[in-house]
Amino acid sequence: VVADAAWAEEVRELARQRDAVILAHNYQLPEIQEVADHTGDSLALSRIAASSDASTIVFCGVHFMAETAKILSPEKTVLIPDARAGCSLADSITGEQLREWKARHPGAVVVSYVNTTAEVKAETDVCCTSSNAVDVVASIPADKEILFCPDQFLGAHVKRVTGRENLHVWAGECHVHAGINGPELAERAAANPDADLFIHPECGCATSALYLAGEGTVEPERVKILSTGDMLTAARDTKATSVLVATEVGMLHQLRKAAPEIDFRAVNDRASCRYMKMITLAALLRSLRGGVDEVDVDPDVAARARASVRRMVEIGT
Ligand code: 13P
Ligand code: SF4
Repeated sequence: VVADAAWAEEVRELARQRDAVILAHNYQLPEIQEVADHTGDSLALSRIAASSDASTIVFCGVHFMAETAKILSPEKTVLIPDARAGCSLADSITGEQLREWKARHPGAVVVSYVNTTAEVKAETDVCCTSSNAVDVVASIPADKEILFCPDQFLGAHVKRVTGRENLHVWAGECHVHAGINGPELAERAAANPDADLFIHPECGCATSALYLAGEGTVEPERVKILSTGDMLTAARDTKATSVLVATEVGMLHQLRKAAPEIDFRAVNDRASCRYMKMITLAALLRSLRGGVDEVDVDPDVAARARASVRRMVEIGT
């Protein structure tokens, strides 16, 4: 803890010297969230990255998040403390696969989750995150076919909420969220009948939660399908004294800070993203000391991706 405090102080000093803003996703290690200037969900962090005056952005998150910041602000230096921090969901569709899918659906509007590579964003009409996916789809004229990629569970959620029949969903998934399964959720919900359920739409169990609500096992108003940022708002608003959380376990840190009186428990406490956890204080210090790992996006790809990412940051609250 003493070493952490000394390291955190050095991080803050180096950030000042570099004119750097440090952004941390809600799934980061607690010590990273605490040392960052801003913590938030994918959409909030993209908006901060786009509007910040700092000349350097240090993105404590995964590679596609840092790439998104670079696409929005090509004149800034964007660093990620460990460039190996990838994302299994972003790996589930390539630019080539998306081009082939589009060729089979001429005229369709492509909506891609922000968890995609810059190359996929360059083939996309509008990007979204989990907090504005429904608003993005609702903004597209009803007669237009939509190709939604890459997350099948978020896609199913958006289709359910919007009632959009002409929305086709790619079969990708995040290995962490897909591993939070329905039987496990049902068991935990039965053992905690008064708890709210906060469920990220990337989870394999989101459909099961609605099924439990439908059959009366869980009161429907207790089931909340939310992005990580919206979970924090819901934590401040709920009357519940305990909440079961279905998402990556890093989320518990901000939830407990937002509502210390609530008992937050992970539905699956093994749901930890190894990529998010590559960003340690040691890696952050190395990054700030050496100006590494710098994230670059090919300027032509970035230029083609920019419009879809800009539309994403403009849509939704
Ligand atoms: P949000 O923070 O947008 O809810 O995204 C979750 C996620 O899986 C990011 O990797
Ligand atoms: Fe990607 Fe899943 Fe990790 Fe989020 S939790 S960064 S979607 S692998």
